[in-house]
Amino acid sequence: MERRTFMKFTAAAGASLMLHPFESFAIPPGKKLRLALVGTGARGSSLWGREINKTFGDVTEFVGLSDINPGRLEYVKKALNVTCPTFSDFEQMLRETKPDYVIVTTVDATHDEFIVKALNMGVNVITEKPMTTDEVKCKRILDAEKKSGKKVTVAFNYRHSVHAMQLKELLAQNRVGKVVSVDFNWYLNVHHGADYFRRWHGRMAKSGSLWVHKATHHFDLLNWWLNSEPVEVSAYGTLDHYGKNNSFRGTKCRGCEFKEKCKFYWDITKDAGQVGLYVNNEQYDGYIKDGCVWSNDIDIYDKMSAQIIYANGVVANYSLTTYSPYEGWQIAFNGMNGRMETWEDIPYLQKTPEDQAKRHAIEMSNADDAVAGEVREIMVMDNFAKNYEVYTTPKIRGGHGGGDVRMQRRMFIDTNDNPHHVMAGTREGAMSILIGIAARKSIQLKRPVKISELTDLVPMANRH
Ligand SMILES: NC(=O)c1ccc[n+]([C@@H]2O[C@H](COP(=O)([O-])OP(=O)(O)OC[C@H]3O[C@@H](n4cnc5c(N)ncnc54)[C@H](O)[C@@H]3O)[C@@H](O)[C@H]2O)c1
Repeated sequence: MERRTFMKFTAAAGASLMLHPFESFAIPPGKKLRLALVGTGARGSSLWGREINKTFGDVTEFVGLSDINPGRLEYVKKALNVTCPTFSDFEQMLRETKPDYVIVTTVDATHDEFIVKALNMGVNVITEKPMTTDEVKCKRILDAEKKSGKKVTVAFNYRHSVHAMQLKELLAQNRVGKVVSVDFNWYLNVHHGADYFRRWHGRMAKSGSLWVHKATHHFDLLNWWLNSEPVEVSAYGTLDHYGKNNSFRGTKCRGCEFKEKCKFYWDITKDAGQVGLYVNNEQYDGYIKDGCVWSNDIDIYDKMSAQIIYANGVVANYSLTTYSPYEGWQIAFNGMNGRMETWEDIPYLQKTPEDQAKRHAIEMSNADDAVAGEVREIMVMDNFAKNYEVYTTPKIRGGHGGGDVRMQRRMFIDTNDNPHHVMAGTREGAMSILIGIAARKSIQLKRPVKISELTDLVPMANRH
């Protein structure tokens, strides 16, 4: 077996030097980028709060924080050790603080409200994924951006992971010839997977279902890796495991009469961060973070699979599992000249299996160090070859494979660094959620759904 190592990721090789959205905004030397943030929950306070302060504090400053929960807002302001004012009224925050960028990290179904308001008030936006949750809100965002002349950047962090970037580089080099089909499977374990069923993510109206909330990451990766846009989706999905499917249920884990026999019992009070952020502030908005995974109100799917047809003829087979014993993913690109495949965190393939209960917390942390003695591997086998090649990259577990910090570095420091068009805007945000929205509709209508039924954007065979 021949082993190859990518020593260095310039990732610019072969990539055009297209300017990315942040270059449209020039900050005078010596000035800091003025940031306002709406949604001071877990993601807002960690990656978009603590990590910005820690790593990019020299070039950015928070000028305002906003949330509907006043208790959480004050807790986060203190935790971030910032002096900026806090607001319950988003528009008042923009009027009074005049930020350069608004960062949107609220509940998914509310993103459009803040994106559109910010654009209408002449402010650039960074939004967490998913850009929004349905096709009507999607159009509102696209129209508002066009009208305003301002920019929305969608924070697709997984693209920036070193592993995802290496795959992109090999695909851009046409390593297996023209790709014709893809097999892509993502597994959420019973710890992280269950978390989506404890709170707002489990309600279609708030998250758009995991087809949108979670799979937007995966569909965006596919779109980017394939450099193409989707034209049609056929999907299947059911709620087989969580929600209504159990014989007993409570309202939340704390004080639950079934705690001894429920495998999903989770003691939130053991985590001081969760208590500070959520438990101590329940009285303001009734947001229960340790809600029952067996709630009858859960109306999303927990088992999903789809076929996606791309404008360049590729067909992608995708599945998402939410109650797997382990968390990880695998993908294979079938090309005219060979096959390329890779995986992350499949226990029987890796040297040191993950602690499944801790895996998600590690992924959400921003530790950017590589695991000693281990690598991520991409296998390529050419047609008629006797053997296969292995390409390797460092194995980074924190910050979504190193994607979080690399994405923010490209936003705040290396603003000319846009290898393979890695920075994403509203078109990328739209194309990824539209696959999920089409999948949702396909299940409801029991037929394939064309992307053209949802948008007047015309899918491009070659995006760049
Ligand atoms: N890219 C990633 O890897 C990643 C990881 C985690 C979360 N996220 C995204 O980040 C966002 C936040 O997720 P989270 O886990 O922090 O959720 P969360 O529930 O912890 O936080 C959401 C916050 O928004 C606030 N909020 C809700 N509605 C609001 C409104 N109308 N006005 C003002 N504030 C409002 C809530 O009070 C809460 O503080 C979501 O869109 C999620 O998809 C992305």
